[in-house]
Amino acid sequence: MEQTLSIVKPDGVKKRVIGEVMVKFEKAGLKIAALKMLKLTKENAKKFYIVHKDKPFYNSLTDFMSEGPIVVMIVEGENAISRVRDIMGATNPKNAAPGTIRSDFASDIEHNIVHGSDSQASASYEIPFFFPSLEIM
Ligand code: CMP
Repeated sequence: MEQTLSIVKPDGVKKRVIGEVMVKFEKAGLKIAALKMLKLTKENAKKFYIVHKDKPFYNSLTDFMSEGPIVVMIVEGENAISRVRDIMGATNPKNAAPGTIRSDFASDIEHNIVHGSDSQASASYEIPFFFPSLEIM
């Protein structure tokens, strides 16, 4: 069993696809082990995406991620990290396989609807960033 952190980003909430994202995970046999809606401050977003601090898109990404509510969830199952990434599709929706979340709903590489931890090390940073152990089922 593995746990990964997934986020429905502000564009996903605005487009009203929170449910569609969760359906894709659940239909694949994965379990939602924690779930909540919140709004990041710019400082929160910068801390969450600190690994990208030297990237040219760091400022616009953290502006975008703090512009409206997001839904954060822990998704659990065998190989959950790689399976969630497969279900989301490529970071750039132009390269995302048909039927993936980003192919179905995303508009561009930044506004790409969902986030999923890219490794166990990332999941270990991202899960406690949002969830204290009492909130994880
Ligand atoms: P995510 O999976 O949340 O991880 C980092 C995010 O940075 C990524 O999804 C995109 O939203 C964004 N991102 C990655 N590459 C680029 C890029 N080249 N230009 C703009 N945003 C990007």
